[in-house]
Amino acid sequence: MNTFGMICFNCGIIFVIVLAVFAGVSSQLGSKVEELPGFEGPLPVSYTHLKARPEKEEQPGPPLGSKVEELPGFEGPLPFELETGYVGLGERDDDMQVFYYFIKSENDPTKDPLMLWLTGGPGCSSFSGLAFQIGPLGFKTEKYDGSVPNLILRPHSWTKVCSIIFVDLPLGTGFSYAKNLTANRSDWKLVHHTHQFLRKWLIDHPEFISNEFYMGADSYSGIPGPAIVQEISKGNEIGLQPPINLQGYLLGNPVTTRKEKNDQIPFSHGMGLISDELYESLKRNCKGEYTYVDSTNELCLRDLNYYDEARINTFNILDRYCKADSAKKHEGPWIRSLTQNFESSLNSHLTELDTRCQGTKGKWERCFTGDYEYEICSSFPFHVNLSAKGYRSLIYSGDHDAVVPFMSTQAWIRALNYSILQDWRPWLLEGQVAGYTRTYSNQMTFATVKGSGHTAPEYKPEEGYAMFSRWIAIFARVSSQLGSKVEELPGFEGPLPFELETGYVGLGERDDDMQVFYYFIKSENDPTKDPLMLWLTGGPGCSSLCSLVFQIGPLRFKTEKYDGSVPNLILMPHSWTKVCSIIFVDLPLGTGFSYAKNLTANRRDWKLVHHTHQFLRKWLIDHPEFISNEFYMGADSYSGIPGPAIVQEISKGNEIGLQPPINLKGYLLGNPITTRKEKNDQIPFSHGMGLISDELYESLKRNCKGEYTYVDSTNELCLRDLNYYDEARINAFNILDRYCKYDSAKKQEGPWIRSLTQNFESSLNSHLTELDTRCQTYRNFLVTQWANDGSVRKSLHIREGKWERCWSSDYEYEIYSSFPFHVNLSAKAYRSLIYSGDHDTVVPFMSTQAWIRALNYSILQDWRPWLLEDQVAGYTRTYSNQMTFATVKDSGHTAPEYKPEEGYAMFSRWIASKPL
Ligand SMILES: *[C@@H]1O[C@H](CO)[C@@H](O)[C@H](O)[C@H]1NC(C)=O
Ligand SMILES: *[C@@H]1O[C@H](CO)[C@@H](O)[C@H](O)[C@H]1NC(C)=O
Ligand SMILES: *[C@@H]1O[C@H](CO)[C@@H](O)[C@H](O)[C@H]1NC(C)=O
Ligand SMILES: *[C@@H]1O[C@H](CO)[C@@H](O)[C@H](O)[C@H]1NC(C)=O
Ligand SMILES: *[C@@H]1O[C@H](CO)[C@@H](O)[C@H](O)[C@H]1NC(C)=O
Ligand SMILES: *[C@@H]1O[C@H](CO)[C@@H](O)[C@H](O)[C@H]1NC(C)=O
Ligand SMILES: *[C@@H]1O[C@H](CO)[C@@H](O)[C@H](O)[C@H]1NC(C)=O
Repeated sequence: MNTFGMICFNCGIIFVIVLAVFAGVSSQLGSKVEELPGFEGPLPVSYTHLKARPEKEEQPGPPLGSKVEELPGFEGPLPFELETGYVGLGERDDDMQVFYYFIKSENDPTKDPLMLWLTGGPGCSSFSGLAFQIGPLGFKTEKYDGSVPNLILRPHSWTKVCSIIFVDLPLGTGFSYAKNLTANRSDWKLVHHTHQFLRKWLIDHPEFISNEFYMGADSYSGIPGPAIVQEISKGNEIGLQPPINLQGYLLGNPVTTRKEKNDQIPFSHGMGLISDELYESLKRNCKGEYTYVDSTNELCLRDLNYYDEARINTFNILDRYCKADSAKKHEGPWIRSLTQNFESSLNSHLTELDTRCQGTKGKWERCFTGDYEYEICSSFPFHVNLSAKGYRSLIYSGDHDAVVPFMSTQAWIRALNYSILQDWRPWLLEGQVAGYTRTYSNQMTFATVKGSGHTAPEYKPEEGYAMFSRWIAIFARVSSQLGSKVEELPGFEGPLPFELETGYVGLGERDDDMQVFYYFIKSENDPTKDPLMLWLTGGPGCSSLCSLVFQIGPLRFKTEKYDGSVPNLILMPHSWTKVCSIIFVDLPLGTGFSYAKNLTANRRDWKLVHHTHQFLRKWLIDHPEFISNEFYMGADSYSGIPGPAIVQEISKGNEIGLQPPINLKGYLLGNPITTRKEKNDQIPFSHGMGLISDELYESLKRNCKGEYTYVDSTNELCLRDLNYYDEARINAFNILDRYCKYDSAKKQEGPWIRSLTQNFESSLNSHLTELDTRCQTYRNFLVTQWANDGSVRKSLHIREGKWERCWSSDYEYEIYSSFPFHVNLSAKAYRSLIYSGDHDTVVPFMSTQAWIRALNYSILQDWRPWLLEDQVAGYTRTYSNQMTFATVKDSGHTAPEYKPEEGYAMFSRWIASKPL
């Protein structure tokens, strides 16, 4: 026995283990596989359905996989996409043929990651991975009656969120075959073949080349697995084709150092399987070495014999112990059987066993471990190498496995010397501890699955799936926790012609503390290159959905009388998402679909600023593909107040090294509240626009002395003049648009918004009663009906809360002017665009011009018209410090809402750094 040890310690020597006892099988496997060894008799899957590779004579070209729509033993068509086939690795077709089962993700195979799965053994068919562990099928546990065993659906299949290739490797495993197996069954051959297989498979399946790729392996494949990842990585570096979008790897109860057995004894002691006395005696006599025992050490051997008597199922110490029919010893050095029952789970059972036992899956050669050459003594050095490359990894342990006990796994992870990012904590499923986890730098996550064995998902499929889907979803958009794709929307005909994702980002300590809702629309041009913008609507407290469907997004409501059905949406051609990816965010908390346990503390200017900043960094962690894009902050109306403070926070966050870095380029503000004294400009604006007489204007100036916002209540002359002004029946948002009386008589409470013109709030409120369809505000009614419709909420993946267009009450004003932020930001050379719809009295262009003038920037290019199709679309002026001011002629609050074409022209020119 200890010769194995010596050899493996001096790994230079290659030792071939030939197991004559397996000859009956291996001699068949060595020959041509058109006959498929072990295939006679009742089989879990039938040969005709698994479709052998196409006959070469009939189908020239590469042997591609075939779709499998039904399987004997499974009732009805398969509810997932299964393809099986061979990939030839040799020079000639029949040299080496690798068999695989490929199951497409049941979620979104175009976006979800692709994983190659290698079962352990070495030499266990990947069908075991499919049917016992992580795939969608399982065998019905029932007494075998001579007919094809029945298959059932396993609901917690990892293929729900990931496409998986289950591959039969090394050659000779499962349905894979080779002309000459000799010297083709070794660790390094397994590594090279897996790597070759993958690139060849991708050539045959080019639609998966760009998918994120993960290598998955368990048990013995913890040895070749990391070496395969290293080969793939090196292959990419030297430019092997096709490129593989390698993201990381995951290993379940992985053999790593081949010294796992040494931890079986302390593990068994910790689990209460052996007495304190036996444990002490073992420690004393064997000195910690239980794997390669000196055959002269009789005391140690005696103690081990006691231990061997334990009749424990080492794969899961809580599971039934079932005696195997075979008395053969397993010879591999890493699995020298202390507990004789080890091999019972590796072997196919030739006589029928108690159906309560794991491993009684039918008459089939599950594993063929013979003729295999162990070359890699430890995969630890590969982990060390891989840690420098930034790949993600998940290492999980069923914690009741004695074959690869969790403590062995923890020990080698500790030896990697990574720093701990998040220390040992329970992870939960449905409020129950499902296991424990710890995260390390270098993107490694360790997790145990409580009460599970070798390997974890086999015994705890639900927990296994929860663990996998959460981990894989950190980068991929699959978990319901993260954003979800929205492909259709009620009221819009056909699939959306742009990419919309909606979701929540949690800001609190616990999940339900604070949840921020967003709509994300990818640039329709080139989302990998185009800038990313975060958009904050005004109010405060107006849902960002309004910007999406009224202002800068690709959808609009069809203006038609509401008939009780879901209001109709149409495409808006001048969407800013044509050239820029936009996140529309519902903030402050309580706005739109965002919610929080305690709103009181969260609805104020500074909270809004901090939350927006936090939201953005968290969103980027979930969407790392956008971290390097140029970033712009966009806001309008009230958000002219928090907007510049948010930009300053982002900038400071970058300076102190907050992660991920944000590639902040600048900001743009539309008809932005800035000094909260905008109202004072309403009177001169109204005079300039011919809305009030010269006499009233002179009287107002004289009586109110320029202060029209905070009027002294004893100043009767001023109040009288203002009352005249209030009578004007003008739509303050756009003086040229219809004036519509609104249904609510509530007053707006914010100081900046004290209503001189009563109709101001009519545009802020959701309308519960119907208005005239000719009113711009009619769509406020439509959007409210739409957003509260059950079908819409389902498509948007809404969790809770009634939707209101704006909810501005309970909000605390803390920032009185954003002017000082502009002053600070001007030193940082960010680009900025400040635009004004020039017929807006709420934030009149002259207010905006006044504070820009007060910044004392020098003018680079003076006031000039900017054109669209040879017509004056507005006026613009550029300043030093990269600030551009622009008006949009004949538009209101805010500009693109009334002039989408001009708004789009202005935006697309500016964002491309072109002159307007
Ligand atoms: C592996 O198998 C192939 C095909 O059967 C054979 O040509 C080759 O010689 C074998 N490799 C080795 C190292 O023997
Ligand atoms: C198989 O390959 C081995 C190693 O390359 C070689 O020694 C042996 O002759 C080959 N057997 C056959 C039948 O080709
Ligand atoms: C780790 O990387 C170094 C440098 O590329 C290489 O020399 C070494 O062989 C690698 N280790 C393993 C185990 O492959
Ligand atoms: C971890 O740290 C120990 C002690 O400093 C050192 O001996 C060992 O080489 C380190 N391991 C790795 C993988 O860097
Ligand atoms: C909500 O937060 C406010 C301010 O922090 C606090 O006074 C109040 O007690 C909290 N309410 C609840 C229900 O926790
Ligand atoms: C502007 O920057 C200075 C220096 O960092 C800082 O002290 C000040 O608070 C900033 N102003 C605002 C409004 O944040
Ligand atoms: C602009 O110039 C005026 C007059 O010199 C000065 O009072 C003011 O502080 C300056 N503003 C800024 C932001 O530097």
